[in-house]
Amino acid sequence: MEMPSALIEVVRNARRVVVLTGAGVSAESGIPTFRDAQTGLWARYDPEELASPRAFKRNPKLVWQWYQWRRDLCAGSTPNPGHFALVEMERRIPEFTLVTQNVDGLHALAGSRQLLELHGNIGRYICYDRRHPVTGWEPTDELPPRCPICHSLVRPDVVWFGEQLDAIVINRAAVAAERCDIFFSIGTSSIVYPAALLPQLALEHGAIFVEVNPNPTPLTRFADFVLQAPSGVALPALVQTVWPEVDSGS
Ligand code: OAD
Repeated sequence: MEMPSALIEVVRNARRVVVLTGAGVSAESGIPTFRDAQTGLWARYDPEELASPRAFKRNPKLVWQWYQWRRDLCAGSTPNPGHFALVEMERRIPEFTLVTQNVDGLHALAGSRQLLELHGNIGRYICYDRRHPVTGWEPTDELPPRCPICHSLVRPDVVWFGEQLDAIVINRAAVAAERCDIFFSIGTSSIVYPAALLPQLALEHGAIFVEVNPNPTPLTRFADFVLQAPSGVALPALVQTVWPEVDSGS
């Protein structure tokens, strides 16, 4: 894949890079995105009906089962070349922060270290009433199971619509965005806030903005560079071009 020479130059010289990823990065691992027309989960399910405290209160079993299905899907998936290319970038850039909206855990599995999971992680559980971390429960026919400490219902440790993001995590992401030389927005539709504010913060502070997405988004027109391709293709190509010594098999 052809890379703009100006982009190669800025990436090679960058000292501080922030990457924001969304569901598109995991599409090539077989995890459907949320909003892509044909494969999107939410073509079949209304997200507001499932990913909100209101939905959980109304029908906790349905929400639990939907997340169980997604959790099994994530657990059976492996990182793709896009995830691994981001690990290579982190090794070569002095200050690198990966901010993800994904809850699938694939960045960590690939080996990314400086990682901020804005929307939580589907592999962890907390209880609904008191947010106790829950790692196990008595076998039960009742779904969802109950917290061993306070007996409230167990839920996934993800951020639902209408809920606040962890203040420490979003603040760290915002500070990194304000300080970076280059901000990459990869595989996200850029319509869910506050995540979508991060590229805007970076732009206001003079960062170069790069978008990697086969489709346009509301932020495409602000991009200095657009790699209009799947991240599993574009990111390994970028890494190979900027650092030709990198072994593509890693
Ligand atoms: P979306 O489903 O909204 O967007 C996925 C994006 O990935 C789209 O812009 C696609 O064009 C792009 N895409 C598809 N395949 C790709 C590929 N192979 N490589 C690169 N890009 C590709 O997913 P998000 O933007 O992540 O939040 O959605 C943001 C948040 O909305 C999610 O974290 C979730 C949802 O509500 C919560 O659950 C709180």
